[in-house]
Amino acid sequence: MTHRTHLLLACAVLAASLTTVASAAGNAAKGKQLYYDHGCYGCHGFNGETGQRDLVGTGSPLVTDLGLFRMFLRMRGDLAPHLPATRMPNYAASALPDKDVDDLFAYVRTFKANAPAVKDVPTLRAILQSAKLKQPQ
Ligand code: HEC
Repeated sequence: MTHRTHLLLACAVLAASLTTVASAAGNAAKGKQLYYDHGCYGCHGFNGETGQRDLVGTGSPLVTDLGLFRMFLRMRGDLAPHLPATRMPNYAASALPDKDVDDLFAYVRTFKANAPAVKDVPTLRAILQSAKLKQPQ
């Protein structure tokens, strides 16, 4: 290998690792804009917990692991188009580039679960209590 080839290789490796670093850390502010632009808020709420499927506080790996998050968004668009459809739209890479997915993920990770525990909501507690009383012994 010539000196020049070594240099080119080193540059390629550096470029690849920079890309990885850049894509690993998405930009939450840009992600917020994308969350609005792509209408995610319409089905998942402005804070990720008032929609058709919570994006926070569920323990789901689909919202805590970037690779799975990306796979889920791409799933029926690129990966397995014949899976049965759900109301969740499919975001193919041609419509939502990886960079945008990283930013969306960073934003989704800023959501905090705010729903109070059942024990802290007197009305819910009373409903559960009366349902329990009515159960046959
Ligand atoms: C038209 C409604 C709709 C829109 C718009 C929508 N979603 Fe969803 N999403 C759903 C529904 C319904 C589910 C649950 C059904 C399923 O798993 O396919 C879901 C599931 C998810 C999940 C999996 C959550 C889990 O842990 O199970 C993620 C992540 C997600 N959506 C992210 C997004 C993002 C990011 C956007 C915007 C780019 C978006 N969604 C736009 C309806 C929507």
